[in-house]
Amino acid sequence: MYDLTQYKIKSEPIILGIESSCDETACAVIKGRKILSDEIISSATEQAKYGGVVPEIASRAHTDAIDEVVERALKNANVAPSQIDAVAVTYGAGLLGALLVGLSFAKSFAYSLNVPLIAVNHIRGHLAAAYLDMPTLKPPFVTLLASGGHTAILHTKSYEEAEALASTCDDAAGEAFDKVARVLSLPYPGGPNVQKLAEGGRACIQFPSALVRHGDGMTFSYSGLKTAVINYCNSARQRGAVINRADVAASFQKAAVDALVDKTVECALKLNADTVTAGGGVIANDYLRARLKRACDDNGITAVIPPKRYCTDNAAMIASEGLNMYLRGEFSGLEVNACASLPLAAAKKFTKICVRLRARKFFVR
Ligand code: KG4
Ligand code: ZN
Repeated sequence: MYDLTQYKIKSEPIILGIESSCDETACAVIKGRKILSDEIISSATEQAKYGGVVPEIASRAHTDAIDEVVERALKNANVAPSQIDAVAVTYGAGLLGALLVGLSFAKSFAYSLNVPLIAVNHIRGHLAAAYLDMPTLKPPFVTLLASGGHTAILHTKSYEEAEALASTCDDAAGEAFDKVARVLSLPYPGGPNVQKLAEGGRACIQFPSALVRHGDGMTFSYSGLKTAVINYCNSARQRGAVINRADVAASFQKAAVDALVDKTVECALKLNADTVTAGGGVIANDYLRARLKRACDDNGITAVIPPKRYCTDNAAMIASEGLNMYLRGEFSGLEVNACASLPLAAAKKFTKICVRLRARKFFVR
C-alpha cells in the first residue's frame, strides 16, 4: 500500500528526478543540492528530420529510453533504488503523450519504493537550476527566465513565490530564435544554430528592440522582432539581393538578447537586489551568458548562470525543484495527471491532492 503517514522528512534527501516534457528523456539523482548523476537520451536527431518536434515520435522515443536512462542514472550515482527518498517528475507543461511516459514511470517507481511522489512544474524546474549552481543561494533575487515557451523577469521572493516584473506580450524568446532559424534555412534545433551562424557575422542590421512600450510600462515583444527579420529577408530576396545570413543572425541575436539583459539588470537595480539568476533554454546562448555576466559584474550584482546543460531541459533541475517541494512536504497523490499547459504558479492548485507536512507528520487533506 502507498502509505506515507510515517514518512520522516530528511534534510539531505536523495531525490530521483525524471523529465520527459519534450524531446529529452532525462533522469538525475541528487543528494541535497549535489548532483550525483544526470543522464539524458535525446530524440533531437530524429526530430531534426522533420524540422521540429513530432509529438508521436517524442512519446515513442520516451517509451524506448525511460528504462535505460533511469538505470544509467542510478548506476552512475552509485545509488540503489532502496536509498531513494523521493521521486520528482515533470507533470506539465509539455506534450501530453511525452509527459505521461515520465509521469507513469515515476508513479509506479514511487509506489513500489513507498516514497513520496513530487509533481513538478517544468518551468519552476528551470528556475530551480540556479540552486544547483550555487547551493548556498537563497531568495530573494531577480530571475531571468527565457525558454521556448516563456520569457519573463521575476522577483523570486521565496522558494514558493515569484512575482512577474516583466514578460512577453506575444512570442517567447526561444520561439523567435526557432522561427528566425527557419527563415535562415537552419535545421532544428533553431536556437543553437542561430548562435553558431551569428558567431561569423556582424550585428550591423538595425532590427527593432524586443523591449516595447506597453501602457505605462515596458514589455517584451518577440513577434515584432521576428517579423522585422522575416520582412528584411523576404524584401532582399524579392530585390534579388544576396543577404548575409550571418549578419542577420548576429543582428537578430543582439536585438533579442540585449533587451533581456538590459531589463533584467534594470529590475535588479530598482529592487536593490544583489543577485540575478537565470534559467531556460535560451540562457544556453553564449552571447547572452557573456552579456549578462558582464552587465551584472559592472553593477556589482552576483550572476548565477547555470552551466548550459542545466539551462536546456534536464532532470537535475526537476530534482532540485523537487527538493524545494520535499522540504515543504508538498507531495502528490498517485491520481495526479499530466497537464499540457500550466501557469507558473500552478503548484498551488495541487495542495488539495497533496500530502502535506505538519510537525514532521503527514496527513491527507
Ligand atoms: O527550456 P527549453 O530547453 O525548453 C522549453 O522548456 O521550452 O528551451 C528551448 C528553447 C528553444 O526555443 C531553443 O531554440 C532555445 O531554447 N535555445 C537557444 C539556445 N539553446 C536552446 N536559443 C538561443 N541560443 C542557444 N544556444
Ligand atoms: Zn524546458
